[in-house]
Amino acid sequence: MRIERFSSKEELYTRAVAIIMEAKNNGAITFGLATGGTMEPLYAKICKTDIDFSHCMSFNLDEYVGLEATHKQSYAYYMNKHLLNQKPFLASYLPDGLAVDPLVETARYEGLLQQYPLDFQLLGIGQNGHIGFNEPGTSFASLTHLVTLEESTRQANARFFSSIDEVPTQAYTMGIQSIMRAKCILLLAVGEAKCEVLERLLASDYTEDVPATALSKHPNVMVLTDLQEEENKL
Ligand code: PGA
Repeated sequence: MRIERFSSKEELYTRAVAIIMEAKNNGAITFGLATGGTMEPLYAKICKTDIDFSHCMSFNLDEYVGLEATHKQSYAYYMNKHLLNQKPFLASYLPDGLAVDPLVETARYEGLLQQYPLDFQLLGIGQNGHIGFNEPGTSFASLTHLVTLEESTRQANARFFSSIDEVPTQAYTMGIQSIMRAKCILLLAVGEAKCEVLERLLASDYTEDVPATALSKHPNVMVLTDLQEEENKL
């Protein structure tokens, strides 16, 4: 895992855009994409470039169960709003939050990921160490599956809803193994709220208690952060 630290968010996002452009110029076709507050400035910056994804495919990490694609807090809606309306891909996939049968839906999505192996995967990180919606304790062998969200995750995401009661309790997510198959992974840890979890990630052994530590066994992971090392803080 290579970590690059930036003194400003502006520099960090500029670097993230450059990494994505480089991956694409080097032939990446299939992109695993992420949502959340962290990704909004990134997508805004990408939309200002002339990057063309029209021959690429995108696969999102996760989707809430119970929200239709037109719901403003669904990740399908988020992706269209922040990226796909301005930068269309040849095809874009997310799990279907309204799928009738979770087993059929997770098998369908995992099948797509196996049919189109990811060249590049973008990740945020939850304050509890989750990647995608793989909460602490998720097996590192997991494939796309249905999860019950931790209360802390629902609280962290409540800021996007009018009240915590509206935050869905379940979601579909790529599994840790699904994520780890990507050829190249870019994780962004931005803002003070991620300070503790980033330190935990860098200090922890490989443990399912901190899902992001799975990445320590991946050969090509880059972490960009605006957080400084503990000893460098004033
Ligand atoms: P955030 O979410 O970008 O909104 O902080 C990241 C995550 O939970 O993975």
